[in-house]
Amino acid sequence: MGKGKVTVMDHPLIQHKLTIIRDKATGTKVFREVADEIAMLMAYEITRDLELEDTMVETPVVTAKAKTLTGKKLGVVPILRAGLGMVEGVVKLIPAAKVGHIGMYRDEKTFEPVEYFIKMPSDINERTLIVVDPMLATGGSAILAIDALKKRGATNIKFMCMVAAPEGVKALTDKHPDVDVFIAALDEGLNEDGYIVPGLGDAGDRLFGTK
Ligand code: PRP
Ligand code: URA
Repeated sequence: MGKGKVTVMDHPLIQHKLTIIRDKATGTKVFREVADEIAMLMAYEITRDLELEDTMVETPVVTAKAKTLTGKKLGVVPILRAGLGMVEGVVKLIPAAKVGHIGMYRDEKTFEPVEYFIKMPSDINERTLIVVDPMLATGGSAILAIDALKKRGATNIKFMCMVAAPEGVKALTDKHPDVDVFIAALDEGLNEDGYIVPGLGDAGDRLFGTK
């Protein structure tokens, strides 16, 4: 592994749902629904360290001391296209988060990522950004996306994906050791076509019913 911190979220619900989307018999509708659920469960874990402050609340019974979120604001950054399948799940839990988009595709021959679109909230330097993409294969797309965010002033970035290859985790954590990486499963590796094994196939195609 590389130099950064890596957390494998091996919660039983996440693992169970991952098996459903790995199954090649799972169609687009169910794939999309279950990917959304996995993203929500992962967001629950990834937000464990959010800061709280004291507040007062009037319940129907008394006025009581309570806790409310404080600290840095959040942003969610899907890497298009497949990252879009994880946005709703995260935003359901963090409705105040802003969403930035970064378009990136892998050249099918070289596996090199190509950036084609970027639109970020103007205050990304003040936000904790959660970059989401279901797949971390060679790591090229995630590395280039995070390069682009840092170039625009982002300083606090987490990366969240469902299925990762060890090659991608090493490349990402070597290049960006300050970025904490959260994954649902660490698979065996990459095949000669650049697919994660066992993986789940092409996440974008399975989410959107293309190919
Ligand atoms: C997939 C995936 C990641 C990338 C991972 O996207 O969603 O962005 O590949 O591979 P890497 O770690 O080797 O860069 P893809 O390029 O297939 O585009 P899509 O989301 O538009 O389908
Ligand atoms: N991108 C995908 O969607 N799947 C893989 O297995 C590798 C990269």
